[in-house]
Amino acid sequence: MRTRPVVTIDGPSGAGKSVVSKRLAELAGMVRLDTGAMYRACALAARRAGVPWSDAVRLGELAKVIRLSFNGPDGQAGIFLDGEDISGAIRAPEMSMGASEVSVHLPVREAMVSKQRELGRDGGVVLEGRDTGTVVFPDAEVKFFLDAAAAVRALRRYREINSIYSQPYEQVLKEVLCRDVRDSTRKHSPLKMASGARYIDSTTMTVDEVVETMMKELPGGGR
Ligand code: DC
Repeated sequence: MRTRPVVTIDGPSGAGKSVVSKRLAELAGMVRLDTGAMYRACALAARRAGVPWSDAVRLGELAKVIRLSFNGPDGQAGIFLDGEDISGAIRAPEMSMGASEVSVHLPVREAMVSKQRELGRDGGVVLEGRDTGTVVFPDAEVKFFLDAAAAVRALRRYREINSIYSQPYEQVLKEVLCRDVRDSTRKHSPLKMASGARYIDSTTMTVDEVVETMMKELPGGGR
């Protein structure tokens, strides 16, 4: 029995899940779990170990043995792979595509989902990803599906990555659309709206407006 709620936010790339889940967790005094970062970490670990992103069996073995944590040795926030801070490395455009590729494989998903359930077991957590309300916590107390027009999602992504990786907008849009197709048509746990989820289209909304809308759905208004 959980004494605190589990909140899930699923949706496509660039819908605003990251920033919104951070703010929501802060305001509601909950922990945030970025499940996409875990698939990105898998893609990075595979690249370093020389395991192709298409090799389901070896990726599954790797996903089971890597040690992922969201706190560093000195308690600092980030994502750590076997103790190393990889928070910056996993944001490279190549790892966005790599995460989308490795996440189609069932053995990878099983390993990640089991870690995610363990981390969210006691509640008081906001999970964001593609399958958090459909597969990871289908019994979550509050579920959201956050969406936005593809051109706007690509523009947000473009602004986010362009200070570090110079990619033309057209390339970012192409990659966003490619990931949309792969993430929502794959066989295992495709991106779709969970039953009971509240749909929010953030195309013309500010972050504050989205967070405010979500807070109202939380038990006791989230406060
Ligand atoms: O949210 P993100 O861009 O960091 O996610 C990277 C990729 O990881 C995404 O394209 C698909 C995959 N993913 C997934 O399959 N399931 C999740 N719960 C989260 C992410």
